[in-house]
Amino acid sequence: MEDRDIIKLSEKFIMPTYSRYPVVLRKGRGVRVWDVNGKEYIDFLAGIAVNVLGHCPRKVVIAVQKQVQRLIHVSNLYYTEPQIALAKILIKNSFADRVFFCNSGTEANEGALKLARIYMKNKLGENRFEFISTLNSFHGRTYGSLSVTGQEKYHHGFEPLLEGVKFVPFNDIDALKKAISDKTCAVILEPIQAEGGVNVAEKEYLRAVRELCNQRGILLIFDEVQTGIGRTGKLFAYEHYGIEPDIMTLAKGLGGGIPIGAILTKEEIAQAFAPKTHASTFGGNPVACAAAVATLETILEDGYLLDYCGRMSKYLMKKLNAIKEKYPDKVIEVRGMGLLIGMELAHNGVEIVKKCLEKGLLIGTAGDGSVLRFTPPLIVEKEDIDEAVSILDKAFKEVEFEERLPESL
Ligand SMILES: Cc1ncc(COP(=O)(O)O)c(C=O)c1O
Repeated sequence: MEDRDIIKLSEKFIMPTYSRYPVVLRKGRGVRVWDVNGKEYIDFLAGIAVNVLGHCPRKVVIAVQKQVQRLIHVSNLYYTEPQIALAKILIKNSFADRVFFCNSGTEANEGALKLARIYMKNKLGENRFEFISTLNSFHGRTYGSLSVTGQEKYHHGFEPLLEGVKFVPFNDIDALKKAISDKTCAVILEPIQAEGGVNVAEKEYLRAVRELCNQRGILLIFDEVQTGIGRTGKLFAYEHYGIEPDIMTLAKGLGGGIPIGAILTKEEIAQAFAPKTHASTFGGNPVACAAAVATLETILEDGYLLDYCGRMSKYLMKKLNAIKEKYPDKVIEVRGMGLLIGMELAHNGVEIVKKCLEKGLLIGTAGDGSVLRFTPPLIVEKEDIDEAVSILDKAFKEVEFEERLPESL
């Protein structure tokens, strides 16, 4: 089938939730993907921060192949080996004592909110049900996660949302202090608001949030769905801040491209999830867990890849800052951590993304559309970065900018 026929059928049969670029991708290796016509692209989006080891990483492919031949699925009524292997790695390398496996970021956040509520209600009574989240956050599309997502554009048409959610500006400790009441159950935030525009939490802010939660007996949930699994140059972004959350959610990079999510927490909090309080049919599926074990083992091998991510981050930042210098009227700021980098433009960025695609580079946008998002695989090489930035440079030269969209909130 030709690409235009596939696109036509997709537009006819798949629900119209996505605005897609007119490309049908067929094959991927490392940092590169190819479409059905054989055109090659450098992938600096990596499935929106999913393909941490690039496309079809050897160890993950082999782990999945072995596992699908042995056991594809059984219920959580039984124990399986890959689940425990994965749990051990996550616990050994994080603040957590316990883990719950699920299938996606939104499912992980949904479970984290339930866990926080049941724990606080058991401990302090019915009244402790409120969540405080941040403006411009993104936590997912199911009702709980959507309700704590601080961007109205995602709420429209789906109200009424979950009761008892307050939003405060990110990086504003005074606003958080004011929002806390005797009903507050938990604060949920991303150490870096990725989808909301690549906004990095300041060190003092996150430490003060931790302190405040300790003082007021409130749980702190870190949504590390996008920042986790090496993306920022540490296995988890919280490690940069010298503090720990009470609950953390993961997904995206965890399975190296195979869908899996997780909720991590301390022993005492985990005990609130007694039998029959929460479950997931596919959660902890053996194939997904085997893929995640292979992914984490590769990332943690000698700590090499995490250091390497830091070095590539510096190189990419330097090159993007050179673009900023070259186009001072078009680029406002380059920011981020590790290989989660945003370039804020003075205009909407969609035309740049389209031009890059035309020239063989995949990138995305974030925030109100004016932030270009770069989340290449952690294995990206200097030559890939040189090639990608040279395409970006040409795109800047050629694109006539449209007006910047208004802020979403
Ligand atoms: C920080 C964060 N949380 C949650 C989600 C939702 O994850 P999923 O699409 O796997 O449900 C995303 C997705 O972009 C995210 O970036």
